[in-house]
Amino acid sequence: MAVQQGSKERHVQALAKAEAAIAAIREEAAREPSRHKYHFMSPARWINDPNGFIQFKGEYHLFYQYYPYGDRWGAMHWGHSKSKDLVHWEHLPVALAPSEPYDLDERGGCFSGSAVDHNGVLYLFYTGTVIRDGEVVQTQCLATSTDGIHFEKNEGNPVIALPPETGSNDFRDPKVWKHEDSWYMVVGSCKDGRGKALLYRSPDLRQWEYINVLAESDGGLGTMWECPDFFPLGDKHVLMFSPMGMGNTKTVYLVGDMDYTTGIFNWDVQGEVDVGFDYYAPQSLLDDKGRRIIIAWLNSWDWMPWFKDFAPPTQKGWCGSMSIPRTVELDEDGRLKFLSIAELASLREEGRFRSSEQQIGADMEIILDDLASEAWEMIAEFDLEDCDAKEFGLKLRVSADRTEETVLSYFPTTGILKFDRSRSDGWSEGICEFKLEAFGQKKLKLHILMDTSVVEIYGDEGRTVMTHNLFPHPDNIVTLLFSRGGSVSLTSFQSWKLRSVW
Ligand code: FRU
Repeated sequence: MAVQQGSKERHVQALAKAEAAIAAIREEAAREPSRHKYHFMSPARWINDPNGFIQFKGEYHLFYQYYPYGDRWGAMHWGHSKSKDLVHWEHLPVALAPSEPYDLDERGGCFSGSAVDHNGVLYLFYTGTVIRDGEVVQTQCLATSTDGIHFEKNEGNPVIALPPETGSNDFRDPKVWKHEDSWYMVVGSCKDGRGKALLYRSPDLRQWEYINVLAESDGGLGTMWECPDFFPLGDKHVLMFSPMGMGNTKTVYLVGDMDYTTGIFNWDVQGEVDVGFDYYAPQSLLDDKGRRIIIAWLNSWDWMPWFKDFAPPTQKGWCGSMSIPRTVELDEDGRLKFLSIAELASLREEGRFRSSEQQIGADMEIILDDLASEAWEMIAEFDLEDCDAKEFGLKLRVSADRTEETVLSYFPTTGILKFDRSRSDGWSEGICEFKLEAFGQKKLKLHILMDTSVVEIYGDEGRTVMTHNLFPHPDNIVTLLFSRGGSVSLTSFQSWKLRSVW
């Protein structure tokens, strides 16, 4: 007689199978030359969005969209790791695996979501995704844990079984928070080609009542809002999301006022969380130091017409990683600024500080010997007042024979910061241009984090951030400063090689 397997057992078995698959590739993946030195990666295989980012019992937990059976997107699991400082991470067992009628599907699984701590129990909310009769069915589901490591799916799943009339089948990525005595959830959706954030309320995290559309696209803000996140900041509220159908705009933030009596968010400030090619689905937490911190997937979907794949074919055993966590602060004019967390400074070694002014003459290049490395940090300040250069900046990850390089340059007459990876590695493509607020000011300050196959560039004191992947050969480690058509002075310069955390 066939013994019917309980849902708990099914989940445990699916998790064990995923663990075995990762164990089989883990060592091979660890040897892969493009693995990061100080950005978060899973032990092996494909990852995308950060999920369930939270501080629980004093430690930071990061979950993530995970496919343990390949280096491409597949049936979604939740990978898991924790950290004491957001810099060093300990990998933990896979937290969620598809196992139930509402989340078991090769083309679906346990999609993105969030975590809350309620009386020492960790609640994970995720979107169960399956395809039925050719249609996507997305429902909001719950799993809980008391030890923060082993999760059981709620017997009453899904906790939200149907999208409301105002939404559609695209109904995913719940983010949950508490306000006064109630729990709230925002879910990404769309209708009639407009992205939306749908608002729910619950007294107990299990029964959810639909309130209304928290905010929606005015027609120019994307056709579907993925991974919404909503939080208070100062005396304002912030809604972040990753819109589909906005070209190279991958992460939007809106700042405004929340009215909990109507459930409507009125916003009047709009910006991009990151203007680069490879920053998607940021999720935030509030930590015990009072910091609002975000982390994001270092890649994005349908990023450009020249889309090929997520990493070069030579990269084996892993694909996808996370940004350096960034604090989010509200500036006086209502805009946001994003800074890499202070804890990152613990990785600095062999520092170099130059405070005396140094001129980069017309059509000159200065090789930065200290930065002959794949993993470094730099803070450079250029004088814009006495600058007659047409273009100046940095060449990154230059090969010894100069055939490969990545160019980051500033055009003083237009204020454009340009990132060109078309000669980075024979695989990457694309030029990203963004006008900086530094235009018309006295100085240009750039803070750059380079790590094997990703670079994060912070300008405008964190009000403009650009993140890009590039896949240069590990031997391409020349870094140089250049100026073209005139000269520019470097007024201050700090740089460090950064230690590996892995
Ligand atoms: C965003 C996203 C989410 C979804 C998940 C699936 O990158 O498309 O909307 O939940 O990825 O992996």
